[in-house]
Order: sequence, then structure tokens, then C-alpha cells
Amino acid sequence: MRIIQCDSTAEAIQTVALLVIEKMESHPTAVIGLATGRTMEPVYAEMAKLKTEKSLNLAKNFFFMLDEYFGLPENHPSSFKYYIEKHFLNPLQISASQIAVPPVHVRDGATHYEESIKQSGGVDLQLLGIGRNGHVGFNEPGSEKNSRTRLVRLTEETIAANKEQFVDDKIPTEALSMGIGTIMDSKSLLMLATGKSKADMIKYLLNHHDDPSCPASFLKHHPHFTLVLDPDAASKI
Ligand code: GLP
Repeated sequence: MRIIQCDSTAEAIQTVALLVIEKMESHPTAVIGLATGRTMEPVYAEMAKLKTEKSLNLAKNFFFMLDEYFGLPENHPSSFKYYIEKHFLNPLQISASQIAVPPVHVRDGATHYEESIKQSGGVDLQLLGIGRNGHVGFNEPGSEKNSRTRLVRLTEETIAANKEQFVDDKIPTEALSMGIGTIMDSKSLLMLATGKSKADMIKYLLNHHDDPSCPASFLKHHPHFTLVLDPDAASKI
């Protein structure tokens, strides 16, 4: 695992945005896995700036999302699909036909999603955040190392942490998420953690291996795993 400790949050965001943009610049058909959450919002804004500065054409890239809430009506403003349109597709002028979202409205969505990822040739770079309880995507504590895309139950802690991003109080308790095994199949992993609320988990992650209570710890086996930290997230290591 490569750890990049940055001197400011802005530097951490720029570092991650640049790594993703450089991947797409050097590999115009690169398949990129996207994450949601507050951490990623400024990363996508920075990527939009870089895309304009570099006059990049991203028409041949394809994107897969890590997860999606289960049980929301289509195009609900609290869905991750809505999030990604607002923070990623629109600012970067990327067509909706270039992205796949875990298909929560079809039968056997998990199997279809795994198949689509395989058919794309696999994810070249998977962008990741981390939950305060060590979840990645929606692989909550207790998730298995070789888990695949599946319907998962969210913990109370995750529901509470994500509450402020909801437009109403009807927060789903389930989601369709890529599994740890699915994420591990990506050719490279790029995780960003910012803010004090992640400091304890980052410390735990760095000190534990293969620990099911911290699903992110499984990712440390990946040969190309980069963890980018701002000063607050790195404050306890
Ligand atoms: C969310 C997402 C994750 C994200 C994490 C952290 O629920 N499923 O992909 O990395 O929780 O979110 P935040 O960046 O808002 O702290």
C-alpha cells in the first residue's frame, strides 16, 4: 500500500483528482470506478477543472458506480445516481450512456452488474472513500473478503452518518454494493480520507490486516492500492 500524506485537504483533493485524470489521459478507454459521499464532491469538482484546463476528451471512458441504495424510486434526489449526475456527469459533461449504476430496479441486478464489469474488461482504477466504521462501498463490518456484488443491509451507524444527505427521513436500510472481491479485481485502487471523523478508522486500518470488522483492511492485499490522506485524517497515525 502506498500512503500519500498531504499538507492540506486541498492538496489531498488535487492529488486524487490528478491521479484519476492522468489515468484517463494516458488511457483514453480506461474504465473508472466511482464512489459517492461528501469526500468525493470536491474531487469531482477538481476533475472538472482539470478536464477543461487540459481540454480532455473523455468520450471513450466508461464508469461504474460502487453502490446504490435499494428501495428508492428511480431518480430519487437522494439516490447515488442523482448524486453522480449532479457532481460528476454534468460538470464533466459525460454522457449518461457512459456510466453503469448497480441496477436496483431489475431482477438479478447483482449478477447483471458483475457481468457488465467483466464485459467491460474490468475496472482500471477504482476510486474509494471510507466509512467511519471502515466500510468501503457499502461493505459493512462483517463483509467477507471474497464477497461479490450483492444486496447488503446498512448498519445504524452508516444510516446515521448518511442522514444529512437525505432530502427526507425515509432512508433506505439496504443497498446493492460491489463486494470486496469485486473491488479487489480492479487493476488499481485509490482511496481518499479527509477530516477528523476518519482519523480513528485510518489508524485502525493501518494497524490491522484481514480484519472483518474493518472491511477496508482486506484491500491492503491489493498490489496497487494508494491511500491519500489530509492532515486531519492522518492525525492519529
Ligand atoms: C458512503 C458510500 C461510500 C463512501 C462512504 C463515506 O455511504 N457508500 O462509498 O465512501 O459512505 O462517505 P463520506 O465521504 O460522506 O464520509
